Amino acid sequence: MTKIVAISGKGGTGKTILSAMLIRYLIDTRNNKSILAVDADPDANLSNELGVKVDKTIGDIKEYMERNKIDIPGDKMLHFEAKVMESLVEEKNFDFLVMGRSEGPGCYCYVNNLLREAISNLVDNYDYVVIDTGAGLEHFSRQVIKDIDTLLIITDQSKNSINTARSIKEISDELNLNIKNIYIVANKVSNKSVVDLIKKYASEISLELIGALPLDDNIVNIDLNGKTIFEIPKESPIYKEVIQIAKKIGLP
Ligand SMILES: Nc1ncnc2c1ncn2[C@@H]1O[C@H](COP(=O)(O)OP(=O)(O)OP(=O)(O)O)[C@@H](O)[C@H]1O
Ligand SMILES: [Mg+2]
Repeated sequence: MTKIVAISGKGGTGKTILSAMLIRYLIDTRNNKSILAVDADPDANLSNELGVKVDKTIGDIKEYMERNKIDIPGDKMLHFEAKVMESLVEEKNFDFLVMGRSEGPGCYCYVNNLLREAISNLVDNYDYVVIDTGAGLEHFSRQVIKDIDTLLIITDQSKNSINTARSIKEISDELNLNIKNIYIVANKVSNKSVVDLIKKYASEISLELIGALPLDDNIVNIDLNGKTIFEIPKESPIYKEVIQIAKKIGLP
């Protein structure tokens, strides 16, 4: 059974960093398990943190199919699955898929439906899937990605990002998304009293604060120097906290 973990939260709170660190954790601990990283943020940048070069996105495929209104002979599903495979980047320890933008007007439901099913079939092949969702939940609401096991909503120590966390929780309730567990993760926190406050805000929206990541110079350095998440020392406090979070959400 595929275990899907999604990361959401206000812009700039650390969704991509946490997604990348969870992928790194899965790679560090993997025992022949298969891992898929999905960048579902329209402003995709998870590839940078993971050091992956991406040529094609699902959005590119969608636009191409819509624009050309291709009449596909034979098994259409096979064709779409092949197209999705074209945009899959296969790294040594994990695979990587970028949803990208799709700015075509209106809903070409035919293309959408086939793509959705092709992605769903692909996702089923993996043991672990980590999705960097961006702030929106549109891929869930359009049911592109179903059966999320755990949604981690990130907040930093700003009230704005806590409010965004609240509305993400509300939207997920309203949309009746089939998410088993939702937790809050605090990031870039400076001290214990801040963590306590965020814990209090989380409980007000009936969510548990599952971990608090410190502001960390290692992260600043990989960002400024264009390095990848694999260069963060295993012993760094932030990575140790990620390990705790990973274990709490049932990763190996
Ligand atoms: N714990 C941390 N310590 C120091 N810097 C951090 C930490 N977490 C994130 N950052 C920095 O904050 C910035 C935003 O982080 P990140 O890109 O992961 O956020 P995001 O939520 O994915 O943003 P966006 O909404 O733009 O996709 C980056 O420059 C990142 O390096
Ligand atoms: Mg991001």
